[in-house]
Amino acid sequence: MNREQARLEAQSFVYQQRFSVTFDYPVCFTERVFDPDNPLLADVLARKEPTRRHRCIAFVDEGVSRAHPGLLEAIEAYARAHARRMELVAAPFVLPGGEQIKTDLFFLEQIMRHLFDHHIDRQSFVLAVGGGAMLDAVGLVAATTHRGVRLVRLPTTVLAQNDSGVGVKNGVNLRGVKNFIGTFQPPFAVLNDLAFLDTLPPREKIAGMAEAVKVALIRDAAFFAWLERHADELATFARPAMAWMIRRCAELHLQHIGQGGDPFEFGSARPLDFGHWSAHKLEMLTRGHVRHGEAVAIGIALDSRYSVLAGLLAPGLEERICVLLEHLGFRLWHPALEMPGADGRPLLLEGLREFREHLGGELTVTLLADLGRGVEVGRMEEELILRALSWLRERAR
Ligand SMILES: NC(=O)c1ccc[n+]([C@@H]2O[C@H](COP(=O)([O-])OP(=O)(O)OC[C@H]3O[C@@H](n4cnc5c(N)ncnc54)[C@H](O)[C@@H]3O)[C@@H](O)[C@H]2O)c1
Ligand SMILES: [Zn+2]
Repeated sequence: MNREQARLEAQSFVYQQRFSVTFDYPVCFTERVFDPDNPLLADVLARKEPTRRHRCIAFVDEGVSRAHPGLLEAIEAYARAHARRMELVAAPFVLPGGEQIKTDLFFLEQIMRHLFDHHIDRQSFVLAVGGGAMLDAVGLVAATTHRGVRLVRLPTTVLAQNDSGVGVKNGVNLRGVKNFIGTFQPPFAVLNDLAFLDTLPPREKIAGMAEAVKVALIRDAAFFAWLERHADELATFARPAMAWMIRRCAELHLQHIGQGGDPFEFGSARPLDFGHWSAHKLEMLTRGHVRHGEAVAIGIALDSRYSVLAGLLAPGLEERICVLLEHLGFRLWHPALEMPGADGRPLLLEGLREFREHLGGELTVTLLADLGRGVEVGRMEEELILRALSWLRERAR
């Protein structure tokens, strides 16, 4: 080997770096989480360093604080009652709830500012009490401030308790694109308090149930049958049924994230996004007037019918799925589904392209092979999508 070769070889030497990091976090189900007699929150904060007094900053969704007068004081009283283990660095901050907090970067800066002003460090805690949107925004700030401070989520909607709040993602929107900016960052802990749901508007309660139907359909036939048997109770928000629906749905999401082999979504398969390619598009087409869960219910119905048309699912099962969704309170049609683009084709079809782009180029869509069994496909036929759409339209007449 001459000197020139030796120099080149030295330049292209590759050291294969490799390590893995284990994440673990408790997802707890409780009631009256800020009752001073309930030790759960203080226990959770102290789980890694039991002898330390933990510094916390708290953020509360405005919709929640309005619906729960006295909540801010209760959080302060809780911290005082558990002063040996925790300390609130300031009175809780109220933040706007709903999608608006994710659509204006101003709010991110505001949250960062509070963390800066109160010297929140990597061992301090951010407590976030709110719906999925507010948790997403606070989660992004917590994940990026000092490259990550500890986040304890206290989700207050059905959707956040059974899906978004128990997972590992956060994100905000930019230029009309949902979740354009975000990270994968597991929380320190999640505390689901069912009592928060008492004040949630019925429309929001119904919307969150779509994710339970979704995950039952791709993963758990027995859970689907359970949802059918308890549809009356769920439709009237009976507490025991709601509690179990949320728990089982959250559990199935956690299992997928923890045991599915791809918690940070490096691959293009995304089974938990069953029914979501059209749902995301419908949400955007209606500028959020259709709630995420409402759009997911329609997306489930559409892809179930598509599965039948594609010969994957036994005919009749799509009707059974639609009947359950309607029983829970969903409407399975919206005129925006057929809103035409410049070429006369429904704009909804663009949703498939956008979904592929989001996955990173390769399209992988989950469809149904049976109740409780998802199947991945690499393409969807436009003609069959259009037929599935007209089936939905006719059904809704
Ligand atoms: N990070 C993820 O993995 C993930 C997954 C799915 C959805 N999401 C996101 O979640 C968001 C939707 O969240 P959502 O469905 O929880 O609704 P939301 O956060 O938009 O809240 C809906 C409304 O309910 C109010 N509210 C919340 N809790 C309440 C309560 N207990 N009582 C009264 N009012 C209450 C809020 O102030 C808001 O006005 C979307 O932005 C979506 O992108 C994130
Ligand atoms: Zn969803």
